[in-house]
Parts: sequence; C-alpha cells; structure tokens
Amino acid sequence: MQHLIISAHPNENSFSNALAEALAKRSRHNDIDAVIRNLYEVDFNPILTKKDLSKIKEGTVPEDIAREQEILNDSEVISLIYPLWWGSFPAILKGYFDRVLTNGFAFKITTDGPEGLLKGKKAFLHTTMGNSIEEYENKGILKAFRQIHGQEVFGFCGIEVAGHLFYPHISDSSTDMKNKYIEEALGFYKTVLPDEEVVNSVKR
Ligand SMILES: Cc1cc2nc3c(=O)[nH]c(=O)nc-3n(C[C@H](O)[C@H](O)[C@H](O)COP(=O)(O)O)c2cc1C
Repeated sequence: MQHLIISAHPNENSFSNALAEALAKRSRHNDIDAVIRNLYEVDFNPILTKKDLSKIKEGTVPEDIAREQEILNDSEVISLIYPLWWGSFPAILKGYFDRVLTNGFAFKITTDGPEGLLKGKKAFLHTTMGNSIEEYENKGILKAFRQIHGQEVFGFCGIEVAGHLFYPHISDSSTDMKNKYIEEALGFYKTVLPDEEVVNSVKR
C-alpha cells in the first residue's frame, strides 16, 4: 500500500510539515510506503495553461502532470495538509488540483453526468488556520469548507473523504498542543495505520 502525503506549506519548520513527517513515519512503521510531495519543495508549477489544456484534450498529458498522476494512481491513501489562506487553498495547491485532476484521469463526463475515476482511495484532509473553529461555525461556513475542499475535489473524483480535521490558532499553539494535535490526527488513521508506535517529537 502507498500513502501519498501532499503538503502545501512553504515553511519546512511549519506544523503542517511536522504533521506530514509524523504521518510518513507512522505509515512506514505499518509497512506502508509513504511519499511526501511538498509542493513548494518540488517546485510544482500550478498554472494550468492553454497549452496544457489542449495537450490534455489530445490525450498527451504534460510530463510534470503525468508524474503526479502516477504517484496519485499508485496511492490508496491520500493525506492533504495545508494552511487556510483566504478561506481556501494556497494557490500552489489549487493549481495542483487544476493541473493534476484532469478530465480523463480523475473523472469523466458521461451522459448521466460526471463520474469519478479514482474510486477505492481514501483521503484525509488537514486544514491549519489562524482563526478559531467556532468563528467559522458561527459564520456557517465550516460545513462549506468540508464540502468545497473535500467533497467537491476528492468526492468528485470518486475518492472517499475519510476525515477532515481543522487546527485552529496554529501559529499561537504551544509545542505540547501541536504534539497533541498530531496524536489526535494519527488516531484518525486507525483503520489504515493500526500500529500505534509513538512517533511525534515535534519541536516547532
Ligand atoms: C495569505 C494568508 C491568508 C490567510 N487566510 C486565512 C484565513 O482565511 N483564515 C484563517 O483562519 N487563517 C488564515 N491565515 C492564517 C493561516 O491559516 C495560518 O497562518 C496557517 O494555518 C498556519 O500557520 P503557520 O503558517 O504559522 O504554520 C492566512 C495566512 C496567510 C499567510
């Protein structure tokens, strides 16, 4: 089994990247291959161009997209870790979805409507944020984040959204709190990562 961990935080010392490492370590401890794709580290090009669109339409996917699609295809479990920026994904992550989840790879349009092509995979989403969870709950948009970030992307492609966690006030959280968040996050993977070796020693 392969676990793809997509991380979209530019700072290698961020909580996001600590969580990515903890998930990779726990996966390997469970004999699951872990692949971390830190989109900044791999310098992912997020701009979907006219040229890309015409190549995709012809069935000749650009090489950098094909590489990401192959990794995605080979992964049964997908973790997505990102900071909430303007209520949404960082641009590099939005561009990853724009360019990698192409028509013909991630979904197809049938006479009965769109059909997801990535069935049998599970996705876990992790959203760090500056605000509190209550603030978004009170505004009535926490549910919208779950829907738009989870179902409208992964669900649309046939991927089961197995969990979506939010981490409030992350920049102001203590190391103890961040470690607690990581333990809680790992707990969400019990069905796919049952072996619970303690792996976190976050000093961020
Ligand atoms: C460009 C930008 C936009 C942001 N927009 C939001 C937002 O809409 N809601 C929110 O709760 N936090 C927002 N934040 C705060 C980040 O979510 C927060 O800094 C991040 O989750 C992780 O913190 P870290 O960068 O200290 O690891 C924003 C931060 C930046 C840099």
